[in-house]
Amino acid sequence: MNKIKFWNRIARTYNENQERTAAEYDTLIDLMKKNIQINDSVLELATGTGTIAARIAPYCAHIEASDFSEVMIEKAKQKSNAKNLTFSIQDMTDLTYPENTFDVVIVVNGIHLVDDPQLVFRNIQRVLKSDGILIAPTFTTNGNLVKIPMRTLGFHVWTEKEYRQQFSKLWHVTACFPLPNAKNSTFLIARKKADKL
Ligand SMILES: C[S@@+](CC[C@H](N)C(=O)[O-])C[C@H]1O[C@@H](n2cnc3c(N)ncnc32)[C@H](O)[C@@H]1O
Repeated sequence: MNKIKFWNRIARTYNENQERTAAEYDTLIDLMKKNIQINDSVLELATGTGTIAARIAPYCAHIEASDFSEVMIEKAKQKSNAKNLTFSIQDMTDLTYPENTFDVVIVVNGIHLVDDPQLVFRNIQRVLKSDGILIAPTFTTNGNLVKIPMRTLGFHVWTEKEYRQQFSKLWHVTACFPLPNAKNSTFLIARKKADKL
């Protein structure tokens, strides 16, 4: 099954599964709010059913919620009527936005899903303003239990240290720590290194 079909299928039950991690999302939103300004233009990649975009919208000038699964985006549109929240179908390995567009790019539980994270980073760096930030919490683990099934699905299974190393070429990592209230997640913020495109 191709990856878009896979995520379209997951989209049907994604909201129900999310309710089980409400505390994790509360913590994430609190941490993100501290790093976003009210005048910021924000892009969320891999938004899924749009929980984060809907909750960040009151704290920024504009947020665009994107995903490559059209079923996820349909579900996301039902979650909020915020005037400053827009939606787009975008593959984060091939973004179509003009360069230097966004103050903040958010991607939650997304980087470990793609074959080539560096390709995603180059896309993000192109659309991010020079002083912009990337907020990229993602699944990490120190245990072995989930490794085999996740790798079978084609996902990366990194420790926190391995995840941080993905950023070493193109980014200055300004925050990287285990997400409180979550068993398997690293919270990470990064800024562009100059002239690294
Ligand atoms: C685990 S879900 C996370 C959703 C949301 N960020 C959250 O934390 O609730 C992963 C999402 O990434 C999307 N995705 C995976 N690969 C993608 C790609 N290359 N471009 C855009 N979206 C992608 C999937 O469609 C899915 O909605």
